[in-house]
Amino acid sequence: MNAIVTGGAGFIGSHITERLVKEGYSVSVIDALNTGDKKNLNSIANKIKFLKGNSSSISKLGKADVVFHEGIYSSSPMYRNNNALVGKAIFEFISVLNYCVKNKCKLVFASSSSIYNGYPPPHNEEMVPKIKDFYTEARYSMERLAELFSQMYGLEYCGLRYFSVYGDREESKKEFANMVSQIIWKGLLDKELVIYGDGTQRRDLVNVADVVAANLLASKSKENGIFNVGTGVSYSFNDTIEKVVNVMGKKIKTKNIENPLKNYVDVVHADTKKSLDKLGFSAKINIDDGIKEALDYYKGLKKVPDIF
Ligand SMILES: NC(=O)c1ccc[n+]([C@@H]2O[C@H](COP(=O)([O-])OP(=O)(O)OC[C@H]3O[C@@H](n4cnc5c(N)ncnc54)[C@H](O)[C@@H]3O)[C@@H](O)[C@H]2O)c1
Repeated sequence: MNAIVTGGAGFIGSHITERLVKEGYSVSVIDALNTGDKKNLNSIANKIKFLKGNSSSISKLGKADVVFHEGIYSSSPMYRNNNALVGKAIFEFISVLNYCVKNKCKLVFASSSSIYNGYPPPHNEEMVPKIKDFYTEARYSMERLAELFSQMYGLEYCGLRYFSVYGDREESKKEFANMVSQIIWKGLLDKELVIYGDGTQRRDLVNVADVVAANLLASKSKENGIFNVGTGVSYSFNDTIEKVVNVMGKKIKTKNIENPLKNYVDVVHADTKKSLDKLGFSAKINIDDGIKEALDYYKGLKKVPDIF
C-alpha cells in the first residue's frame, strides 16, 4: 500500500508516518515545514520519500492508495493573526480532494473539536457547528467539501475531529503546543505557567498514539463521514496541572490572567459512540501513563522550548 501524509513532519503527522512505515506501507510525506520539523522523521528518514511543499502540490508525489491530510496551519490563533489562512486551507484541500478522486484513493483528514464551540458537552457529530472562529470556518468548510466530493464524485473519506491531542514531539509547535506539553516545559525550566482565566476550562485530552490508531482504523473502514477522536473524559486545566505535578513530583508556578481571547473554547468533551460503533475506535492510553511518556521524552531534549 502506498500512503501520502500531508503535514507528515508535524506532531501528529510524524506519528502517523512512523506507524505506517512500521505497518509496511510505502510512505510519502509533503510538508511546508512551518510548524513541522524534519527531525520529527529522523527515525524513519531513509524509509520514506519527503517533499518540502504545500499540500496543494500533492500530485507531485505520484499515485497513492490512501491520503492522510494533516498539512494545514494547525492552530486557531494563527488564523486570528492572518484570516487569509482560511482561504489557503480550503484552496489546498480542494487540490487534495481532486487528487483523491483522480487516483481513487481513500482520504482521512484532520478536523477539530473546536467546531463544537458554543455547545454544552458531551459533543456529538450531529451538532451543527456554530461558527465562532476563523479556524473553525476552515474546518467546517473542509468537512462540507469532502461530503460534496463524495456525493458528486464518489470520494471515500473520513474526517476526524481530534479533541485535545497531547504527547511527545510537540516542541516545534512552540506556543501552539498542547497544555500538557506546555505544563511539562514550564516545570522542566522552572518557569511560571500563565493560565487564561481561572483554569476551569476543560479539555478532552487524547494521546497521540490513540489518534494514530483512529487514523489507521478510518483508513481501512468502509464508512464515510465525520467522527470524533476523543476519550469521552475531560479535565480542567487545574486538574491537568495537578496530574503533571504528580507525575513530575515537582510544583509548578502558575499565574492566572484575564482571558484576552474572544469566543474562547470553554469545554470540549467527546461523545465517543459514533466512532466506536462505526470505526471500532476507543482511546486506550491512560492519561497518567501518557503524561509520563511525554515527560520522559521532553526530559531527554537538549533544549526544552522556552515560550512566552
Ligand atoms: N494537536 C491537536 O490537538 C489538534 C486538534 C485538532 C485538530 N488538529 C489538526 O491536526 C493536524 C495536525 O496538527 P498537529 O497538532 O500535528 O500540528 P503541527 O503544526 O505539528 O502539524 C501540522 C503540519 O503541517 C505542516 N503544514 C502547515 N501548513 C501546511 C501546508 N499548507 N502544506 C503542507 N504542510 C503544511 C506543518 O509544517 C506541520 O508539520 C492539523 O491539521 C491540526 O489543525 C490538531
